[in-house]
Amino acid sequence: MALFGKSKKPGDTTSQLPQILPEHVGIIMDGNGRWAKKRGLPRKAGHREGAKTFRTITRYCSDIGIRYLTVYAFSTENWKRPEDEVGSLMRLFKSYLEEALSDFKDDDIVVRFIGDKSGFSPELQALMTENEESSADRDGMVLNIAMNYGSRDEMLRAVRGICAEVQQGNLSPEQIDEKVFSAHLYTAGQPDPDLIIRPSGEYRISNFMLWQAAYTEFVIMNKLWPDFTTDDMDEALQIYSQRNRRYGGV
Ligand code: FPP
Repeated sequence: MALFGKSKKPGDTTSQLPQILPEHVGIIMDGNGRWAKKRGLPRKAGHREGAKTFRTITRYCSDIGIRYLTVYAFSTENWKRPEDEVGSLMRLFKSYLEEALSDFKDDDIVVRFIGDKSGFSPELQALMTENEESSADRDGMVLNIAMNYGSRDEMLRAVRGICAEVQQGNLSPEQIDEKVFSAHLYTAGQPDPDLIIRPSGEYRISNFMLWQAAYTEFVIMNKLWPDFTTDDMDEALQIYSQRNRRYGGV
């Protein structure tokens, strides 16, 4: 948790953000399909609009001083969707990685991908690596884009990594604690999310950051992701700032 309470715009003294801002925010970008269906459009049109919202909200989070933002873009289960939809998502990711993400340069955003990159085409994998390498030395907000990400898969990988270290004699079973486990996750070295926002009114975690979200505050918003605005973000931050976090204590 961080204390920021920045003004939203330079010189704007009336619209203050809450004093207590989360350090790490996670967003399950849900509702693109329903947004498109409501308008009689193909699902891919919803994903295109969702990508625009992703860009706006990412920039906004960086502007107001959020330190870490993790967005759920494609899960390990999303491959089950029709070929046509998966294909359009891959094309959308490619165009973002080629163009839009370089936009984040001016905002000093560090881009990271969490998930199993090997599931993507060599071209997409190369773009992911390029984006990570070219942004690594920036010192702004860390943006984790979860792609081919599943929390169960992430935890199984951690277990395999830890077992290998034990087998090699570099670690004893007694040394395995929460810190060691966390250090084997994709989010190693990052704080756990303080707040996870799920638009679209669904009350589900959908295999997202299961270990990291042990004490995360959840805010469910009744807005489909393409309709989600910076005002909705402010509302979620306001709700979060009023929560009493006890971490199992009193
Ligand atoms: C879930 O909504 C959304 C997705 C599976 C895709 C999310 C991807 C984007 C917003 C594009 C972001 C782009 C980049 C580069 C990160 P859904 O399709 O399950 O919606 P529904 O529940 O209404 O069907």
